[in-house]
Amino acid sequence: MQETLFRLDEELIRRHGPGGLIEVCWRQWHAERELSARGIHFRSSDPVICAAAYAAMSPEEFEAVNGRQDWANWRTIPHGLHGQVPDRPLHVIDLGCGTGGSTRVLACFCPAGSRIIGYELTEHLAAIARQRTYRHHSGAAAPVEFVVQGVTETLRDPEGAPLADGSVDLANASGVVGHHLTEQTIAPLLAELRRVLKPDALVLLDVGPTLGEPELIGLMSAAGFDRLSRQRSSLFDPNGQVAFRRRD
Ligand SMILES: C[S@@+](CC[C@H](N)C(=O)[O-])C[C@H]1O[C@@H](n2cnc3c(N)ncnc32)[C@H](O)[C@@H]1O
Repeated sequence: MQETLFRLDEELIRRHGPGGLIEVCWRQWHAERELSARGIHFRSSDPVICAAAYAAMSPEEFEAVNGRQDWANWRTIPHGLHGQVPDRPLHVIDLGCGTGGSTRVLACFCPAGSRIIGYELTEHLAAIARQRTYRHHSGAAAPVEFVVQGVTETLRDPEGAPLADGSVDLANASGVVGHHLTEQTIAPLLAELRRVLKPDALVLLDVGPTLGEPELIGLMSAAGFDRLSRQRSSLFDPNGQVAFRRRD
């Protein structure tokens, strides 16, 4: 068990996170219905269909369909980090960061001074992510950069060079691994995590309809990662995030 960096209370989440869940769910349901009527189906594990669907959404539609994920992130990510990372600036990667919703939660709860790179397939979502502000919960600005690329490709720094081997302390995925990747398509990402993570690094990966917890644990174990815990945003959250520690 490592040092605890913040007092994990609902007040901290309420102060920084989104509003009520009922309104968030209503907006999401409504936006999904409208998108579906236009033939836009983003709940897909086919990378071509998925990229086209996200690219066809307006920024407002994306925020609406991502609302429940955003609400969940403010609960799952801090619980996954709590007591599991050292109190020093970390090198963090946020896989499939969309407009930076999960990145904002990481910036808020990772130790002050942590450097975060967000990876996103859809250019216009990454452009929105670049325009947002990212703050540690103390109020200090957080250094954040974004790279437009798939998470199943070689992970690159913002200058285009591959991330250095063994350089990353924490990898996060919210609404991506269990929602768009499968047992068949995740292999290149696992190889990259194995390459870029430091020994003892922490990994938080979402589970969901396209990749469930038992399958993910099997794949992660074979890649050298042990399961630590699973965080759900509420009693009724069927998905959530699973935390893993690199074994060696
Ligand atoms: C449900 S959204 C979650 C966004 C963000 N993580 C959050 O929690 O607010 C999923 C995002 O993953 C991106 N995505 C899906 N497959 C991807 C891939 N193979 N590589 C990079 N991004 C991907 C989508 O474009 C979309 O922005």
